[in-house]
Amino acid sequence: MKYENIIVKEDDGVATITINRPKALNALNKDTLIELSKAIDNLENNNKIKVAIITGNGDKAFIAGADIKQMKDLTPLEAKDFSEIGHNLLFKIEKSRLPFIAAVNGYALGGGCELMMACDIIIASDNALIGQPEINLGISPGFGGTQRLPRLVGKTKAKEILLTGDNLTAEDAINIGLVNKVVAKDELSGFVEKLAKKISLKTSVQTAFIKELVNKGLDLDLQNANALEISYFSSSFSTHDQKEGMNAFVEKRKPSFKGK
Ligand code: COA
Repeated sequence: MKYENIIVKEDDGVATITINRPKALNALNKDTLIELSKAIDNLENNNKIKVAIITGNGDKAFIAGADIKQMKDLTPLEAKDFSEIGHNLLFKIEKSRLPFIAAVNGYALGGGCELMMACDIIIASDNALIGQPEINLGISPGFGGTQRLPRLVGKTKAKEILLTGDNLTAEDAINIGLVNKVVAKDELSGFVEKLAKKISLKTSVQTAFIKELVNKGLDLDLQNANALEISYFSSSFSTHDQKEGMNAFVEKRKPSFKGK
């Protein structure tokens, strides 16, 4: 499939989606959001793919936000439509069977921070700058920033970031648990590829189960969340990979998972 604003590469179970508007620091315009959504649908239906990486092209930015030049003349109705397209995309990432790794190679601002937060694992380069600067543009975040940020870093820290619009360094971000790991700029892609490969070799039944359990469970009370865990745990015992994983342990060999 040919895209104008993104590049999708597939390599041995791992798909890499690169947002490719480096002259605009990979800002998300409507077409880019639509292409990302289509690309994720395609990967979702491709059973060879086990893990997805999202990153930005160039050496400066992951995503410097939603496209301000495109947004500036929107009517309230058009702004609602744009916000919904962004929200639907981020829900799609969260609901996907695929673990998504954000490789944050520079600015992750506004929509970039919001997209990053919808991913399952976030690895940042040491030059990354992360924030929600919407307040400086006279708006509030529109792709989930006011909701996912407090869920990830807590209410008071989130409010500080949202109300000041100040960027966090990669070090600040790791200190508040907003990113999983910070690596040297030149090592980011290699590190993320290795991590993706590692997860791609697990059983894809359980990568999907674990992602769904954590995401759904966080929206439930503990009792209902644990009931969900019981049901997924029990249905694991109807899978080939449970039998293979446990037999391999007992027989002291490596398991050969089939994703079923
Ligand atoms: N939307 C549209 N275009 C953007 C953009 C965005 N979010 N962020 C950067 N760009 C464009 C700039 O307009 C510029 O285009 P031009 O060459 O046609 O003028 C190009 O990308 C390079 O950006 P520039 O500002 O010159 O780079 P810089 O190194 O001086 O500053 C940033 C980098 C990220 C600090 C600065 O671009 C910025 O503040 N961007 C907006 C961040 C933001 O508010 N995001 C939230 C949006 S809701």
